[in-house]
Amino acid sequence: MIKGLKVNTSVFPIVLMIRPYVHLNCASTADGKLSFADGTRLRISGEWDMRRVHTLRQRYGAILVGAGTIIKDDPKLTVKGDYVHDPNPITKVILDGAGIVSPSSRFFRTPGPSVIFIGGEVDHMWTEEVLRMNEEMEGDITIIPFHTKDGIFPLNEVVSKLHHMGVDRLLVEGGPTTLWGFLNKGLWDRFTVYFGPMLVGGRGPGITGGMGTFDPLAIKLENIMKTEDGGVLLDYLPMRIRP
Ligand SMILES: NC(=O)c1ccc[n+]([C@@H]2O[C@H](COP(=O)([O-])OP(=O)(O)OC[C@H]3O[C@@H](n4cnc5c(N)ncnc54)[C@H](OP(=O)(O)O)[C@@H]3O)[C@@H](O)[C@H]2O)c1
Repeated sequence: MIKGLKVNTSVFPIVLMIRPYVHLNCASTADGKLSFADGTRLRISGEWDMRRVHTLRQRYGAILVGAGTIIKDDPKLTVKGDYVHDPNPITKVILDGAGIVSPSSRFFRTPGPSVIFIGGEVDHMWTEEVLRMNEEMEGDITIIPFHTKDGIFPLNEVVSKLHHMGVDRLLVEGGPTTLWGFLNKGLWDRFTVYFGPMLVGGRGPGITGGMGTFDPLAIKLENIMKTEDGGVLLDYLPMRIRP
């Protein structure tokens, strides 16, 4: 180890697989919903949680979300100076098998590199439009065509590719389809869920989506915290075995 270099392994334990350390995070209502019943964006996090999330973004340096989150929420995926002193641009990673995110989405227009994983069947007109917008905005986009099986990327290959590109810590911020993909494949090291003090009912997106399983995944509750903005933060670790 380089003299004087301290590695805090309690924050980023050493990952033996060749992939980044993966932290999954989301904000849920107390009744387990991530948005309004029609999927429109719902501000769940209070000030305490906003500060926590933006601090995580800064610390990890790379965020990944699925195309559904871009379409429904149109997030900027930046670190806000309101929460973090002197923030740096971060790497934004999008999974978009079908090539459906709008080339005018806000994340394209924010500083820092963007990486978009797309399926091999994506219309080249879409790719050209994204590259044209990128040039116009003087952005820094990398589009990575990936082979898909039934429209789904092998996420282990996605994280391995990111690792090769220099991403050693990845914050996955949803939505439910993407979270389930990482959970179900065991490609995660920490999973935090902030439960805000509100209820919305309905059949809107829950914490996880995807196809589900009849073989429940075991997770270990590592910590539970009542937060000063009225919420609860649950902090899980993988068990690596089925219950
Ligand atoms: N409260 C929160 O913390 C939070 C955070 C994020 C999102 N949300 C909410 O979540 C909802 C969106 O849910 P969602 O499940 O649609 O979002 P999502 O997980 O962000 O997006 C799903 C899409 O991502 C792509 N994708 C994900 N995994 C993939 C894989 N392994 N291979 C290929 N493509 C993959 C697919 O895009 P293609 O269709 O292009 O193949 C898929 O349709 C919105 O209502 C949003 O408000 C809430």
